[in-house]
Amino acid sequence: MNRPGSTARGWRVALVAAWMAVVGQAHAAIIELNGRQGQIRLDSAELERHSEARDIEVSDDISYRRDMRYRAVPLAVLLQRMGLTPEDTLEVVALDGFVAQLPGALVLRREGQPWLAIEPAGNPWPILTGKAAGTGPFYIVWPDAAGVKNEQWPYAVAKLNLRDAPALRWPQLTPAANVPEGSAIRRGKEQFMVHCLACHRLNGGGEAQLGPDLNWPMSPVEYFQPQALRQLIRSPSSVRHWPSQGMPAFGQDQISDVQLDDLLAYLGHMARERKIQPQP
Ligand code: HEC
Repeated sequence: MNRPGSTARGWRVALVAAWMAVVGQAHAAIIELNGRQGQIRLDSAELERHSEARDIEVSDDISYRRDMRYRAVPLAVLLQRMGLTPEDTLEVVALDGFVAQLPGALVLRREGQPWLAIEPAGNPWPILTGKAAGTGPFYIVWPDAAGVKNEQWPYAVAKLNLRDAPALRWPQLTPAANVPEGSAIRRGKEQFMVHCLACHRLNGGGEAQLGPDLNWPMSPVEYFQPQALRQLIRSPSSVRHWPSQGMPAFGQDQISDVQLDDLLAYLGHMARERKIQPQP
C-alpha cells in the first residue's frame, strides 16, 4: 500500500508522464526526404502548419475502407523540395519494410494529385483491422484515386527517396532480351512492379522486406499448383490462414484475369531464366 506510485499524486505524475510520452512521441514524428540537394528532415507539427496544409476528405480510403478526413499537404510540396521530375521514381519507405516505387509522372500529376496526410500529435488515427497500428505517422492518400492501385497508397511512411526507375536499378527484374516487346511476359513485369515489388524482391532485386523473394531460391510457380497460386494471389486466406498473415488479396478491381495471366507468365519466365545467385 505504501508504494510511491500508489498515492493520488503519484498516479497524476504517472498520468502526466504517460501523456507527455504520448504527445512527445507524436511530436517527434519526422519524415526524411532524400532528394537532389541531399537530406531534409521535416516534423509533423511543422507540416500541419504549412501554408498549403488543408483538411481534406478521402472517400472510401483504401486502408480504412471508409470515408476519412485528414490534415494534409499536397505531396508536390515535398517533391518540389526533393527536385523530383516525372522521369524519376519516388521510393516511399514505410516503417514495416514496405517500400513502394512510385513513378514520378504519377506522383506529380496535377489532376487527382496525391496528398501527404499527417497524423495529428496526441490524436492517433484508428488501428487498422487485423494490424497492430494505424496508418500514421504519414500516409500518402489519393482523394481522386482514378488509375491508382492499392499498393500506391503507402502508409506508416518514414522516408521519401528520389531514385532511378526500378528497371534501371535492378536489371535482374527484366525478362530475357529475346522476349518481344508487348508480350504477356513484359506486360506481366509491369504488373509485378506496381503490385508486388513493394513487399517482395525478385532475384534479390528490390528494397522490400515484408514477403519472400519470388524467384530465389525457388519461384512459387515451381512449388505451388497453378490453380492454388492463382487463388493465393486472389485471396491468400482462402489457401492458408493465420493471424499475422501479411499478403493482401488482389481482386478483379486491382488485377484483371488477363493481367493475372500476364503476371504468372512473367513469374514462369523468370523461373526458367534463373541464372544468378543473389545474396540472401
Ligand atoms: C503488402 C505486402 C504484399 C504485397 C503487396 C504482396 N505480397 Fe505476397 N506476400 C506478402 C507476405 C508478408 C507474404 C508471406 C505470407 C504472409 O504473411 O501472408 C507473402 C506471400 C506471398 C506468396 C507465398 C510465398 C510462399 O512461399 O509462401 C506468394 C506466391 C506471393 N506472396 C505473391 C505475391 C504477388 C504475385 C504479389 C503481387 C501481385 C504479392 N505477393 C504482393 C506480402 C505482400
